Amino acid sequence: MVKTKIMAWAMLCATCSITAQTPVYLDDSKPLEERVQDALSRMTTAEKIAIIHAQSKFSSPGVQRLGIPGLWCTDGPHGIRPDVLWDEWDQAGATNDSCVAFPALTCLAATWNPDMAQLYGKSIGEEARYRNKNVLLGPGVNIYRTPLNGRNFEYMGEDPYLTSVMVVPYVRGVQDNGVAACVKHYALNNQEVDRDHVNVLVDDRTLHEIYLPGFKAAVTEGGTWSIMPGYNKYAGDHACENSVLLLDILKGDWAFDGVAISDWGAVHNTEKVASNGLDMEFGSWTNGLNWGASNAYDDYYLAKPYEKLIAEGKLPMKDLNDKAERVLRLIMRTEMNRNRPYGSLNSDEHYAAARRIGGEGIVLLKNDNKLLPVASDVKKILVVGENAIKMMTVGGGSSSLKVQRETLPLDGLRAKGAEKNVEVVYERGYVGDVTGEYNGVTTGQNLKDDRSAEQLLSDAVKAAADADMVIFIGGLNKSDHQDAEGSDRTDFALPYNQNKVIEALVEANPNTAVVALTGNAYAMPWLDKVPAVVQGWYVGSEAGNAIADVIFGDVNPSGKLPMTFAKKLTDYAAHAKGDSLMYPGVNGDVQYKEGLDVGYRYTDKLRKGNVNFAFGHGLSYTTFRLGEPVASGKEFDGQGALSVTIPVTNTGDRTGAEVVQAYVRDLKSSVYRPIKELKAFRKISIEPGKTKDVTLDFDKRAFAFYNPETKLWTVEPGKFEILIGTSSDNITAKIPVTVKNEITWEDSE
Ligand code: BGC
Repeated sequence: MVKTKIMAWAMLCATCSITAQTPVYLDDSKPLEERVQDALSRMTTAEKIAIIHAQSKFSSPGVQRLGIPGLWCTDGPHGIRPDVLWDEWDQAGATNDSCVAFPALTCLAATWNPDMAQLYGKSIGEEARYRNKNVLLGPGVNIYRTPLNGRNFEYMGEDPYLTSVMVVPYVRGVQDNGVAACVKHYALNNQEVDRDHVNVLVDDRTLHEIYLPGFKAAVTEGGTWSIMPGYNKYAGDHACENSVLLLDILKGDWAFDGVAISDWGAVHNTEKVASNGLDMEFGSWTNGLNWGASNAYDDYYLAKPYEKLIAEGKLPMKDLNDKAERVLRLIMRTEMNRNRPYGSLNSDEHYAAARRIGGEGIVLLKNDNKLLPVASDVKKILVVGENAIKMMTVGGGSSSLKVQRETLPLDGLRAKGAEKNVEVVYERGYVGDVTGEYNGVTTGQNLKDDRSAEQLLSDAVKAAADADMVIFIGGLNKSDHQDAEGSDRTDFALPYNQNKVIEALVEANPNTAVVALTGNAYAMPWLDKVPAVVQGWYVGSEAGNAIADVIFGDVNPSGKLPMTFAKKLTDYAAHAKGDSLMYPGVNGDVQYKEGLDVGYRYTDKLRKGNVNFAFGHGLSYTTFRLGEPVASGKEFDGQGALSVTIPVTNTGDRTGAEVVQAYVRDLKSSVYRPIKELKAFRKISIEPGKTKDVTLDFDKRAFAFYNPETKLWTVEPGKFEILIGTSSDNITAKIPVTVKNEITWEDSE
């Protein structure tokens, strides 16, 4: 009898790790909250303190006594960052931390395709999982307020609705791997100048309508498990210590049950950070060790100083419990989740995803005389420009990567050219940044060129005259002030003599296309003369192949701008008045006096033709016609949704995808409303000659504004229009809608 019992017990142990003695917190058949509370109830104060702050550059400890593992974070948001030393930013020199670089988030946003965001999240989540990272520090959803912001390339453009739609599948895709997304930088982190302290003054309505929706969607729809309060201040308090952002909005209205993880070194004060809703502290001071103390991790604001204030009864235990509980929940959702998949690294699927997303995000801005795709009679192409030969995955700040491979634009074009019997030759044209190093990762490229600027130019011009077609590949390059964390751009113009080179090339050969690799809009003084312009973003590992796919027409471009490409810097409202208080700030304050007038919300009010390329603009190698839309009704009472169906016909000769966009205009309002605002869109692929219906839904949110007095989202009764089109400046139909009654609801709904 005893023997049988022992055997049964042994069999149970062999087949299943859960036994009768398994404590609740380790038993994943038990509900998550029960496990969290059980673990919390067993922990000492010191253990709770330990799990809410870093133990190294990117990790936090678990509770070894209880067998609870710690957490490992990684940047984000375009690939999995290589490992650094325990206490320092220097490279660990690992051999298993090379990754696939996915396109920058501006490129993802330019796909206007939530399926691409899901594919992106899934793929990068798999890489994070394989590398045993629990928290991916991304995606970034700060709004494109100024084209000077050095980190715009890490974000999703100027529109809160587009950002909201794109962030949700990214977050879900990552988290399906048992890896937490950490949506950043919450909130109003829209410039790099004085980023550690700049105090943003913005009215409540603008905050809720422009700067918060992306974060809100990530929390309430995406269910993100973590969020990163940024460096900047809002209304006088640092984001990490800001009770309005963290307690009232994030944890109050949005009922966030995850972890608020400080940006690296963004915490400044124990009392505030302990009481105002931050849960975990990372990156305080330089290397975690030598802040005049034997172990600086213990000196973190949320470490010994916090423990002391609790012991003295000056701060309540309940806040520490809340933080520890959230961290435990995060650990159980990730590292302690036995059901998560294993992930994969550098897989063929990930390269294919990067190439596909890149191909869908590249935007054909201009294409006179059908210069693109490369015509069948083109036998020789001259490629000019440093960005054709420069690795762009190294640099730019914390998003910098160590890639397994990166196909350069020139190599992608050469390979594709060889397939199609087109000779591709190269000239440099200008020299920009030749360093190729970030944080100890080097590209290994030698980009030195000793020719003078004049010589470089004349060599390129000479070669241009001898080619059937010229493709200039330039832009910015993620070095300081050229799309990089830690510094903003100082100029809206392209750097390094590029404008002169472009002008000279197009004069030598009118068949010149410009492909710009940037995360930002830029001035195009040569635009009237250049027949074709492509926005190539930063595409990552598959840059060269994705660009070649579009240039040679194997991929029919379908990207649309997620931000306005204005003519001049002063066509962005933040810069319109040359008011330093609006940018970059005065005495530590920056005031968003332009309110809601960000991007097209402002340029819509300016003279016609004020932009080079409008928000939502992007061409295809085919053409589309939008037919007469049919609405499900003319009146709206706030219940359910009004839907509009638009027939879309591919009127050209090749399969292509169009993005049907819908903007809502309030014709009469008691408050200021922008001329129009994006409220729905759908991308659809159609074969030549075929027509497909696109149906867009509009619920009460499509008509609402945020009333700062009542703190209610509000739809006023009256007349609205739904504007249908293929870009913000190509509206093909207007549908009148009457809202019958006032509709209000709380932000928490
Ligand atoms: C950046 C974050 C990044 C963190 C960790 C900070 O400087 O602002 O975006 O995730 O460093 O590298």
